[in-house]
Amino acid sequence: MTTPKAMKAILFTGSPTATYTSPATVASLILASQPLPVPTATQHLIRIHATSITPYELSWPTSAFPHPEPRIPCHDIAGTIISSPPNSPFKPGDRVFTLLPFTGQGGMAEYAAVEEEFIAKIPEGMGWVEAASVPRASLTSWQALSVRGGGYVKRGMRVLVTGATGAVGRMGVQIARELVGNEGKVISVGGVGSGGLQDLGADVVVNYREERNWEEVVRKEGMVNVVYDCLGGETLERCLPLVIDGGVVITIGSPPPGDWETLKGWEEAKQRGVKGDFFILEESGKQLRDIAGLWQSGKIKTSVGLIVDGLTEEDVRDGWTRGLKGGLAGSVVVNVA
Ligand SMILES: NC(=O)c1ccc[n+]([C@@H]2O[C@H](COP(=O)([O-])OP(=O)(O)OC[C@H]3O[C@@H](n4cnc5c(N)ncnc54)[C@H](OP(=O)(O)O)[C@@H]3O)[C@@H](O)[C@H]2O)c1
Repeated sequence: MTTPKAMKAILFTGSPTATYTSPATVASLILASQPLPVPTATQHLIRIHATSITPYELSWPTSAFPHPEPRIPCHDIAGTIISSPPNSPFKPGDRVFTLLPFTGQGGMAEYAAVEEEFIAKIPEGMGWVEAASVPRASLTSWQALSVRGGGYVKRGMRVLVTGATGAVGRMGVQIARELVGNEGKVISVGGVGSGGLQDLGADVVVNYREERNWEEVVRKEGMVNVVYDCLGGETLERCLPLVIDGGVVITIGSPPPGDWETLKGWEEAKQRGVKGDFFILEESGKQLRDIAGLWQSGKIKTSVGLIVDGLTEEDVRDGWTRGLKGGLAGSVVVNVA
């Protein structure tokens, strides 16, 4: 198959001084023609059909990780293999999804080049848009609950998930359900879309938009073994008294609690033996295969909050703005082609 020499891509031309409190704007997302990526001897060339927006990427400090310039954002992709190294298990024509490494180019484009270790086959029956919503959201929650700390969440435990209606939190609820089994309990605190959380396996659903004192509702359910906080900041602080002595608080929220000691209530929690864990997710094709297996056995569902039809500057900016505004209960996915 002949491939074109150039491709459409959205470039992120944002400020190098962007921070969580002073992010770049969507005006820094520019549609441009770019040369096709040239795969190295170990890389696969993928034709991208759908990619998922990472709304918070505008606030990532550029110093956080090295990346190529000009920078293509968004690292969740679903697409078709065009070419692969001779010994790769992935062959031209295979339908695959991946979280592209954050140190390389993103996937808001028509093509990407990536190594075998990051790729997994899309399970049969899962569409492009659904598939693009999976990698970042599921890998983060999978690693938080079942990989880190040797697997924090065990059968029979009680787990609290905050930001539970978000792209990541919705996966968190489902993975927590799977790990704690019927004898455990999953308590969720979310916003718009809370009504659907029971279907994803939450035993208790609290909507922060309706319950200002949501932690009182949670407390009535009893203390939890594990908090999985998908928000950070004040929400993280409010979770600390809800975890049992010796329990675990995992947070992925922004900005990261660089220094746990500065959190209100941390000293008391620490004295009770509570462990705090903030992490940045890692890209992994192997874990994505495990997640594909969970989807195939009906244990997790995908969550697409909004579909942007086509890789145009205006539509991507609009979709990005909607993603930042919230209220979508799932990923914003761009249907590339
Ligand atoms: N460390 C890592 O590796 C990593 C990886 C992935 C994501 N993240 C971070 O994780 C966070 C969540 O990501 P996401 O993609 O899931 O975001 P998202 O889709 O925007 O979800 C956020 C969710 O939280 C809900 N929410 C907002 N305020 C709340 C509150 N006070 N109490 C309970 N729920 C509340 C929102 O509901 P409404 O829409 O109704 O407000 C929304 O459903 C972001 O900060 C992101 O940067 C970190």
